[in-house]
Amino acid sequence: MKRSPTYNDCLEFLGGERLPAAFVNLDAFDANLGVILKKLEGSAKTLRIASKSIRCIALLKRLLEKGGAAVKGIMGYTVEEAAFLYENGLDDILIAYPSVQAPDMKLLAELTSKGADVSMIADCEDHIRAMGAAGRSAGGELQAVIEVDMGYRPLGDTLVFGVRRSPIRSGEAVLRLARLADRVGGVKVIGIMGYEAQIAGLTDRNPFTKGLNPIKKMLRELSRPDVARRRAGVVKYLAENGLVLRIVNGGGTGSVDSTSRDDSCTEVTAGSGFFCPHIFDYFSNIKLTPAAFFALQAVRAPTADTVTCAGGGYIASGEIGADKLPVPYLPRGGELLAVEGAGEVQTPVVFKRGNKPAVGQPVIFRHAKAGELCERFNELLLIKDNHIVDRVPTYRGDGQCFM
Ligand SMILES: Cc1ncc(COP(=O)(O)O)c(C=O)c1O
Repeated sequence: MKRSPTYNDCLEFLGGERLPAAFVNLDAFDANLGVILKKLEGSAKTLRIASKSIRCIALLKRLLEKGGAAVKGIMGYTVEEAAFLYENGLDDILIAYPSVQAPDMKLLAELTSKGADVSMIADCEDHIRAMGAAGRSAGGELQAVIEVDMGYRPLGDTLVFGVRRSPIRSGEAVLRLARLADRVGGVKVIGIMGYEAQIAGLTDRNPFTKGLNPIKKMLRELSRPDVARRRAGVVKYLAENGLVLRIVNGGGTGSVDSTSRDDSCTEVTAGSGFFCPHIFDYFSNIKLTPAAFFALQAVRAPTADTVTCAGGGYIASGEIGADKLPVPYLPRGGELLAVEGAGEVQTPVVFKRGNKPAVGQPVIFRHAKAGELCERFNELLLIKDNHIVDRVPTYRGDGQCFM
């Protein structure tokens, strides 16, 4: 792979750019696609791209093009987004989060009538009934994918490791919803999704939670066979009961290795790994290269070893913690101040071992998460061989805000 940009490279390609600016190193982005596809090699599974972790049409298309037949479909996050993707020439969209509101149901039915291959997650009777009603009034059939909870419960329901998403835990429960769909009409169950968040989203080499790392590692390891056994059990039960599944989706970047070995899945999802935000440095099972960055202007120097940058308070969502802050990346050795963190309009960075940039120079940061970076910027500068080769709009730059 080409070398990652040094601070001097950044000075050169950012010279003349208005800051704050966000950029993606395509050499690293493409290499990360290669690393993820390698894990799927020989598994007969395809890779579905989680669009929430990219939020840029040009880069979604790049992944689909570069990945060839190994990459198939998008995992979207709202119906409006799915419509936007379809308008932009993308198809095979699984909306991974349910909705029942009338405008979404109407739009989903319209998309289906236009011939889009779009499906949406459902996990209860309300979801199935809302989809069925929309499908029937449009004279079509909406596609539902049932989410099966993959939380790890070593002691039953008193202790759950995983995310609170779906109440569906068994093949019987999936089949009940599929039978309901057949009865109400206007909706059909075409697949299942089992997302093992306690593996895919749990860092086990996290410098911000050092004491917990061994426990998190053990939890991930204990959970893996449990997820594989339960997902396979659901698939087997449904096959025995005549429910044909076109999609059995699992995984995320943090679990591509284990999900790609799970025979019951037809596909694996990944998104964040392509940008490799700093949270993805803290997984012991996958090695990726930082690809997405933002540059702030150093505008003042309040002390001998500190510069204060304009902007920077781009905090990631999720459980509150220091690992949700962006990290200063270049020049090397910069650190945020615990008392100020990354501020709404100003972010001080201390360089205890020298390297302090001059006022007017950039400080390069990495966001903690992937797609959320794009909610802060209208465009991404695309870098190749340490030169800007293109600039492309983010969803925000396209005037879109889906959540
Ligand atoms: C259903 C589902 N699958 C997969 C992912 C993982 O995506 P990523 O690779 O961006 O971590 C997520 C992330 O939240 C998700 O909700």
